[in-house]
Amino acid sequence: MADGSTRSIIRREDYREPDWWTRQIELDVDLKPLETTVVSRLTLERNVKSPAGADLLLDGEAMTFVSASLDGVPLDPQQVERTATGIAVKGMRDGGVLEITQRCDPRNNTALSGLYLSNGIFCTQCEAEGFRRIAFSQDRPDVMSTYRVRITGDRKSCPVMLSNGNPVEQGDLPDGRHYAVWEDPFPKPSYLFALVAGDLGLLQDSFTTRSGRVVDLRIYSEHAVIDQCRHAMESLKKSMKWDEEAYGLEYDLDLFMIVAVSHFNMGAMENKGLNIFNTSATLARADTATDADFMQVERIVAHEYFHNWTGNRVTCRDWFQLTLKEGLTVFRDQQFTADMHSAAVKRIGDVQLLREGQFPEDAGPMSHPIRPDSYVEINNFYTRTVYEKGAEVIRMIHTLIGPKAYRAGIDLYFERHDGQAVTCEDFVRAMEDASGRDLGQFRRWYSQAGTPELSVERSFDPRSGSYALEITQGTPPTAGQPDKLPLHVPLRLGLLSRDGRPLPLMLEGENEPQGTERVLELTGERQRFVFKGLNSEPVPSLLRNFSAPVRLKLDYADDELALLLGQDEDAFNRWEAGQQLAMRLILRGVDAGGHAEASDALLAAFRKVLADAPADPAFAARAVQLPSFTYVGQQRPVIDVEGITGALRSLQRGLSTALREDWAATYEHFHDIGPFAADNGAAGRRAIKNQALFWSVQAPDAAAIARAQRQFERADNMTDSFAALRALVESRDPSAASALGTFYARWQNEPLVVNKWFALQASADDEGVLATVERLLHHPAFTLGNPNRVYSLVGVFANNPAGFHRADGAGYRFVMDRILEVDPKNPQVASRLMRPLGRFKPYDERRRALMRAELERALARPDLSRDCYEVASKSLE
Ligand code: TRP
Ligand code: ZN
Repeated sequence: MADGSTRSIIRREDYREPDWWTRQIELDVDLKPLETTVVSRLTLERNVKSPAGADLLLDGEAMTFVSASLDGVPLDPQQVERTATGIAVKGMRDGGVLEITQRCDPRNNTALSGLYLSNGIFCTQCEAEGFRRIAFSQDRPDVMSTYRVRITGDRKSCPVMLSNGNPVEQGDLPDGRHYAVWEDPFPKPSYLFALVAGDLGLLQDSFTTRSGRVVDLRIYSEHAVIDQCRHAMESLKKSMKWDEEAYGLEYDLDLFMIVAVSHFNMGAMENKGLNIFNTSATLARADTATDADFMQVERIVAHEYFHNWTGNRVTCRDWFQLTLKEGLTVFRDQQFTADMHSAAVKRIGDVQLLREGQFPEDAGPMSHPIRPDSYVEINNFYTRTVYEKGAEVIRMIHTLIGPKAYRAGIDLYFERHDGQAVTCEDFVRAMEDASGRDLGQFRRWYSQAGTPELSVERSFDPRSGSYALEITQGTPPTAGQPDKLPLHVPLRLGLLSRDGRPLPLMLEGENEPQGTERVLELTGERQRFVFKGLNSEPVPSLLRNFSAPVRLKLDYADDELALLLGQDEDAFNRWEAGQQLAMRLILRGVDAGGHAEASDALLAAFRKVLADAPADPAFAARAVQLPSFTYVGQQRPVIDVEGITGALRSLQRGLSTALREDWAATYEHFHDIGPFAADNGAAGRRAIKNQALFWSVQAPDAAAIARAQRQFERADNMTDSFAALRALVESRDPSAASALGTFYARWQNEPLVVNKWFALQASADDEGVLATVERLLHHPAFTLGNPNRVYSLVGVFANNPAGFHRADGAGYRFVMDRILEVDPKNPQVASRLMRPLGRFKPYDERRRALMRAELERALARPDLSRDCYEVASKSLE
């Protein structure tokens, strides 16, 4: 039987409609841990565009084929031919019902794709190509079917048995077994199929839609953690309400279920009516989860819920269109979070994620446009580019055509395509038709990879009072795309007077000013914009709210950055100005051999932020953070590991010392004495307080250590407890070891908290972290069998420059050793861990050679998974 190990390249241009449609799928699933039998009945219809007699191609892997019949007549063996990805059924005429019996082994399914067991719970993951591990099928998203699913299982171990849609029947069977039947009336692609069975706890609630339908809401999890699901339930109700208000979209079934499982390759999955979640994206209770975890749960619950329309009702024609559903749904969840919390803080966080996660991807060996042209393994393309840059592209459409036309475009998209599997092109066309705008050049964002760079030159002519911005754009070459074309870029901007007032904006050729903020549209390689009627040279505030996913180069003077930081109307650019001030010092420190000192300008800027902190503590917490190693590394052609770590560490110590009193005062001011409160205000105060605590221990004095210890002992919530533990570890105070021990002893039965404990130690900023991580590998709680645990130790380490980029290469070797251990069990996880090793290009010669050698070691394995093969081979190309 096909084992899914072929390494052929799938190309977007090769897309062809299938010769057959599967209109209905009936599944009879007899659940047994080691041998589950699935009888499938596919109702087939020939595609009218295809010739009679065309083979029916069915995908299938990691299963045993038992038998097949067509309309009740057994197929003879010559009619079923093996192919690279499954079987071809010959001699089909116009259709009929094809019944296939097949078997799979959930217990030994460690890939967590298809049907598997998580702590005794049967569950499925079918996106992108997992359904073919459950039943021979047309496992492609343009084939949409209605499903009727009959599940048989043990009454005792599987009292709860779920699938998509509505429950229609259930009953007892002999031998302690029972059955349940589910029907999903909405035709869907196989990747949205789901099945869950086990002994599950239930949290129940309801939501009344704006048209008055009552929807039964259910969250299932292991019994022990069901009381940690309440926040997810509240998040779900908020999401349902928000989607009605912001997009006019209502839920369409009478039942919506979420199941949380401990073993899951990603965050969560939007299966129709039956979302399956990683516990890390579901559970949140104030004593075990931080404020950041609460926001993450809310975001992912919203994201999966929003997929019901953007993904499920309208789905993707093929996997090259993945950003059609993911980019759009991420943009929607970003809008939702912005409405629920601080829009500026949300935007800052998203831009950090883009710069730290997506920019390196776009500059690396796996660089691809948001709509890729080819892939070997589709699981390798669930990337920051497809998701986060994809969301930026939707955001730019929103900016260019405005919120009203955007909404009209969304309405038109659903009017045209509800119930269909469509393409990115269909989406853009709906936006064009609704807005009357030509998005012809804009479409290049879908086909061109790489991060564009904008350089700005400015000149002021005091005689005529005109101010010119000369903007050039270019995109550096990326893997397989040497030549780049200019893009259509929305540039949101304002101009400030030297005393910080917003100035009216009047472009050459206009008779009167049009507000104090506007969006310029860049389309050419070089463009000049001239503003009129200015008395003195203004300070430009460009790319406000990060209006495009680009790098912007403009040589500001320190006092201009200080002005922007203090007075720009745009909160994102206030933050950005502070980051640029710090970046400048850090880069000077890198060039000077790895030592940076705080300038008066930066100290004044930080003091200003702290003085303004009471107005928006969450923003202040972000504004006193330094740019990360990764982002600093992007500012020079070669990443100087020692130089950057040295500069960052010395600047951290300098700021800790120079502002010692300010950190202490900030801590005292924002430290709530009363009991825990969960609201945004209280979370913001915790954020700035804990940031102050973090700063004060970079060059610790006894008072700072005492504050951290006191907070660790008294905290009644995980945010404060974990921040205090982190501060103790950062301080390198001897008490850190016993605090780590206390923390573990207290939380050893809460796996998600134990993950934090591993992650904290794996992120320590010193070369000795490798020894720590090697020791933790043998900790009784460590296992390679749970993706969350692997990511919390090995994944965090692979993103910790101090350990991973050790000059002797031991960090690289450690990570590759783990990858090669994980790969045979779970290729998706192994391949994700490999990405940092593939990005060796910007490092020094020595490190490049060491990283390459590790990748070559992987490629030499004859049984390397397709997932890892694609990453390793493309990296070495
Ligand atoms: N569609 C999921 C999302 O909302 C992504 C996803 C979940 C996934 N599990 C997966 C993708 C497993 C590939 C494999 O983003
Ligand atoms: Zn998604």
